[in-house]
Amino acid sequence: MPEIGLYEAMSTLRAVRRLRPDPVPDDVLARVLRAATWAPSGGNQQPWRVIAVRDADKRRRLQELYIGPWKEYAASHSATPDGVAPDVAARIGRMLAAANHLAEHYHEAPVILVFCFDPRQMAITDIQLDRPTVVGGGSVYPAVQNALLACRAEGLGCTLTTLLCFREPEVVELLEIPEGWGTCAYIPIGWPASRGHGPISRRPIDKMAFADRFGSPIHLEQA
Ligand SMILES: Cc1cc2nc3c(=O)[nH]c(=O)nc-3n(C[C@H](O)[C@H](O)[C@H](O)COP(=O)(O)O)c2cc1C
Repeated sequence: MPEIGLYEAMSTLRAVRRLRPDPVPDDVLARVLRAATWAPSGGNQQPWRVIAVRDADKRRRLQELYIGPWKEYAASHSATPDGVAPDVAARIGRMLAAANHLAEHYHEAPVILVFCFDPRQMAITDIQLDRPTVVGGGSVYPAVQNALLACRAEGLGCTLTTLLCFREPEVVELLEIPEGWGTCAYIPIGWPASRGHGPISRRPIDKMAFADRFGSPIHLEQA
C-alpha cells in the first residue's frame, strides 16, 4: 500500500460499506489500534477501550442485533424529500443501498471494532447545561477518528456506525463489557469489495466556518 498524506486521507475517508470477508493481518490491525491510542482525551484519562471482534459467532450476533434498528432507520429515511435535486436524490439512494448492504452483511466484515467508554473517567464539562451533552464524546471520538484514518492509510474500508447503541444491553452481555461502561462506535472494517475510498461530499468552508461571530463570513488569503 503506497503511503498517502494526511490531507488526502482525510478528504477521501468516506463510508466504505461493501467489504470482502478476507482476514485483516495482525500487523495491520495493530497499526490501526495503535493509531487509536494516540488520540487526546480530557485530562489524558483515556476513558475508552476497543474490542476487536473477530469471532464469527459474535459478529453474526452483532449483525442480528444491527438489522432491526437499521430497518427502523431506513423505513423513516427512505422517502426522498420534495424538491431535492435529482443528483442529490441519486446520491441518497446509493447511500441507502450501500447501508442496506452493510446491514445484511455486517457479520462478514472480518473485524468489527467496538469502542467502549467509562463516563466516570470523563470530565463532562457540559453536563449541567439544559441541552444534550456532547463533551464526553470528545474523549472517545478522536480515538475513533484516528482508527478510521489509519484504516484509510492501510487501504481498509470502514464505516463508523452507531445504530447498535439501540441494542447496547445485548451487546454488553455478548462482549462482557463491565458495569458502568457504554458503547459509542461500532466499526466494521475489511478490504473494500468495490471502489473503496474516494471523493466525499461536504459543505464548503464558507458554510461551516465564521470570523469572530457566528454567521460572519471568513475571508482567508489562500496561496
Ligand atoms: C456519529 C455517526 C454515526 C453513524 N452511524 C451510522 C450507522 O449506524 N450506519 C451506517 O451505515 N452509517 C453510519 N454513519 C456513516 C454516515 O452515514 C456517513 O459518514 C455519512 O453519510 C457521510 O458519508 P460519506 O462519509 O460516505 O461521505 C455514521 C456516521 C457518524 C459520524
